[in-house]
This record gives sequence, C-alpha cells and structure tokens, in this order.
Amino acid sequence: MEVVKKVEEVRARVDKEKRKGRVIGFVPTMGYLHQGHISLIKRAKQESDFVVVSIFVNPTQFGKNEDYDRYPRDIERDIKILNEEKVDLVFVPEVKEIYPEGFNTWVYVEKYCDILEGKFRPNHFKGVCTVVLKLLNIVEPDKSYFGWKDAQQLIIIKKMVDDLNIKSEIIGCETIREEDGLACSSRNIYLSDKDRKKALCLYKALERIKELVEKEKVIDCKKLIAEGKKIIESEKGVKLDYLEIVRISDLSVVEKIEKGVIVLGAIKIKDVRLIDNLRFE
Ligand code: PAJ
Repeated sequence: MEVVKKVEEVRARVDKEKRKGRVIGFVPTMGYLHQGHISLIKRAKQESDFVVVSIFVNPTQFGKNEDYDRYPRDIERDIKILNEEKVDLVFVPEVKEIYPEGFNTWVYVEKYCDILEGKFRPNHFKGVCTVVLKLLNIVEPDKSYFGWKDAQQLIIIKKMVDDLNIKSEIIGCETIREEDGLACSSRNIYLSDKDRKKALCLYKALERIKELVEKEKVIDCKKLIAEGKKIIESEKGVKLDYLEIVRISDLSVVEKIEKGVIVLGAIKIKDVRLIDNLRFE
C-alpha cells in the first residue's frame, strides 16, 4: 500500500493503473475509520481492481463554531486498518495541497444544500461538494463509494455528478450500525456512556416510524413524524434539530409515504450532533 500526500503523485499512480485497463474504485473519508468506512472499502475492493482511499478532514465543510479542531484524528491507526484491508493507494493531503493560497472556486447544488442539514449547517454542503469534486478530479475513479448514513450528502453528490457530467459512478452503501442500532460515526467517540444511550432515541424513533408504516399501515407523514418526535422529545438532554420525510429523488417534501422516500433526522446532545435516516424504497 502506498501513502501519498501530493495531487501529482495520485495522478501518476492512478494513470499507470488506468493504462493497464484497471477499474479504479474510490472511497473519500475524513479518517478515524470505523466499520462504516470499512464496509465502503470492502465493497470497493470487490467491485474494482485498484482502490484509492482519501483521508482529509475538510476544513471548508465545518462551520465556525463546529468541531473542525477537535474532530478525531488517528492517522497511524487508519493506515494500519487500510493496510489490512489491502487498499492500494491512500491520499492524505495537507490543507494547503487542497486549498492553496488564493483558492476561490466553489461548487454548490442549489436548493438541495440549504434544506435539512443545510439549514443547521450553513455552507456545509458547499464545502462537501467542492472537496468531493476536487477529489473526483484528482483521482478520476470509475466508481466512488458513499454511505447512506449521510443520505443528504449522497443525494447531493449524485445530483452534482449528474448535473456536471462527471464520469464517476456514485454508489450508495448501507448504513452500518453498532449492535444496539446506533449508526457508526466518528463522532460517537464524543459521547459519554450515558449520552450514548440517549443518542439511541433517534434510531428508536426511525424504527417506530418503520413499524407504523409496515405493520399498522400508517402513511400520513405528519402523523408519523409526530410519533417519532414524541420518542425523541421524551429523552431528557436531547435536542431535536429536525425530523422530516422527503423524496430521495430531489429532497422535496411528501405528505404520504410512497416508494422512494426517506425519513431524515438530526439530534444534538450537548454539543454533539448526530444524524440518521430510514429509507422506503
Ligand atoms: P466521513 O464522515 O469520514 O465519511 C466517509 C464516508 O463514510 C461517507 O460516504 C459516509 O457516508 C460513510 N459513512 C460514515 N458512517 C457510515 C456508516 N455508519 N455506515 C455506512 N457508511 C458510513 O462524509 C464524509 O466523511 C465527508 O463529508 C467527505 C465525503 C469525505 C467529504 O469531506
């Protein structure tokens, strides 16, 4: 496994493989790898010949008062994991490699970026779109892997890639959860044992909505959301940012459950923000 820091090194290495006709798979991450990331890497390994993983805590997708400085980092542990997974190339650029002085071009998907997460994290998706487009331009992968855990991010990236005629295929991978149902996240490490239990209320709310739809045939979104909110709001110390049901195709609001909708939620416990979702496909 090779670990490189420079854009030109990635390009040279990937070009060499492409000339041999190899299929390039790419998994962008911010590191502090967990089972969610590993599932993406395993899928990439299965479906491509040469797998590139990037580790870059992207400053432009964090708000001023967000956790950029304290975002967990452990590059040595990450590299060990990637080695075990037999990843071919790891890209760990420094901030100035991605954003050299004078950097001034931004990518943004209108409407999609301002709602749901975007309402609570202004400019977050502008930072995500910009860095993902840059990484796709650097690696030029045939296939790129993203998790459904960050559903709005995945939907926005698919839209950007489609709108801008980017060649990479965007593949969505299922959310990996801890045994009790909590979605794996690098941010779970911020939670005390007590808060971790509280954090489960979001998953429980989504499970309750699933049960109401599948067993009790409730399809009225207002009713479903009200039931979900009850579970979250009854948990002390948990602040609900939003719980909404939208279409996967364009994030538009729906009134009744239909094929291709998604329930998206975000909660805050102290200053830890967690998101999760449930798809009806
Ligand atoms: P990060 O949070 O490190 O996540 C990297 C990838 O892993 C994303 O596609 C994310 O959706 C996926 N992932 C995270 N937790 C997961 C889980 N529990 N199950 C399945 N997949 C999971 O998302 C980012 O980084 C950044 O925004 C990035 C796309 C790298 C741009 O900076």
